[in-house]
This record gives sequence, C-alpha cells and structure tokens, in this order.
Amino acid sequence: MKPIAIVSALYDELSKVLELMPDEHKQSRAGREFWLGHLHGQPIVVVLSGIGKVAAATTATLLIECFGVSHIVFTGVAGALNHAVKVGDIVVGTRFMQHDMDASPIFPRYEIPGYGTAVFKADETLAHQLDAACQDVLSHLHGVVEADVIQTFGLHSPQLHRGLIVSGDRFVSTALESQQLQKDLPDALAVEMEGAAFAQVCHDYGVPFAAVRTVSDQADDDATLDFTRFLAEVASHYSAHIVDNWLRQRMN
Ligand code: ADE
Repeated sequence: MKPIAIVSALYDELSKVLELMPDEHKQSRAGREFWLGHLHGQPIVVVLSGIGKVAAATTATLLIECFGVSHIVFTGVAGALNHAVKVGDIVVGTRFMQHDMDASPIFPRYEIPGYGTAVFKADETLAHQLDAACQDVLSHLHGVVEADVIQTFGLHSPQLHRGLIVSGDRFVSTALESQQLQKDLPDALAVEMEGAAFAQVCHDYGVPFAAVRTVSDQADDDATLDFTRFLAEVASHYSAHIVDNWLRQRMN
C-alpha cells in the first residue's frame, strides 16, 4: 500500500500528529526529516514543508518522487480574509491560487503561465472526507482543546468553511494588505503561504491533494499576537484530531 502524506509548515502544527504514530522512524532528504509510520493501519509519511511556496513545491516533489505517496493532505493555520471567518474556525480548501502571481500584461493577473488557469482544485473526495473529520472536531471541541484555551481565544462556536484559499510568499500582517487582498479576491476565505504550491505540484503529477487550515489570525495588525500560543494550544490539537478522525474513517 502506498503511504499517505501528512504535511504542515511548522513543527507545532504537526507535533500532536507525530505523537499518534507508534512506530515512527525518520529519513532525511534535502534537509527535511520525513517520519514514516502507521496510523489506523495505514502507512503514512509526515513532514514539515517549511514556509513558503518554494519550500512547499520541493516537499511535494520529494513526497511524490522519493516516497511514492498516494495522497497529500496539508494541515496548518491561515489568516482569515473574510468577515464571516473567525479565529478558531476551520477552512477546508476546495480551490487554491497564488495571490502574488502576476505575469501581466503577458498573462492575465494570477494566471500561472503555461497552465491557462489561476486556480487548482482540491481532490473532491478527499476534501469531502476531511470536511466530515473537521465537523466532528468542531462539534466535540471540549474534547480537543482545554476549557481555559477555549475561553482565552473565544472559541465558542467555531464554524467550518469550504472554498478558496490563497497562498503567497508573505505573512499578511496589516489591515491594509488584508483589505486589498479582500478587494482583489473577494471569494478568498483564508491566506497562507504553501497550499497553492502543493496544489500545483499535485496537479502536475496527478496526485490527489487537499488542505485544512485552522484560522489563527485575522491577517491584520494583530496577526502575530498570541500566534505561537495558538499554534501549540489550539492548532496542534485540531490537526491531530482531524488527521486521526480522517484516517479512522478511511478504515471503515
Ligand atoms: N498563516 C497564518 N496566518 C497567516 C497570515 N496572516 N498570512 C500568511 N500566512 C499565514
């Protein structure tokens, strides 16, 4: 059976997933550590992609070429780009684009030269399965995150959203930039730095891809406040429960 890849950009986004793998062992490639093991009887490879689109593209290529993965699932955090999307919500990406791709006037803004499109889609089945796994986490939040953490971050009725996630090589941390992105890309639900690169490489190889992002900030001037604490106390737990639920469901 080919392994499934589970990827995050940062260690704190993955730490609790690694704790779920009883038999993990490491292999190093291109400066990255790949943890191989099993979860719910399925072979998995867990890796940190690093931050940004180039690091993401290298990681996706290694997972496919060197580890022969059957699917890639990204789990991590993102900034909200829509007033309906709040800290603690989850966004399941159904479409991905690069908000900083601009080869105009030769190609339309955002279009990836040579591909005739700006948007790559998530694998529908995978996104659907992850949707169910996320819903389960949100409806049992008290079993996922400590009560005082729910209070601190105001996670009282977190919601699940599905739709467009945009990626770029910038951490969006001013209201000005966030408003501009919302104006330019009104469908975008969240912004991060890797998803669209994974989606493009997976498209090139025909490997199913999906991504789940916990909203850590509003991509504004307060975006870095409590970011590290949010990763450790909220996002890492969400990720582990989502991955665990999803792989358990796949066994049934
Ligand atoms: N990941 C989490 N928050 C982000 C933000 N505000 N901008 C880009 N990537 C992010």
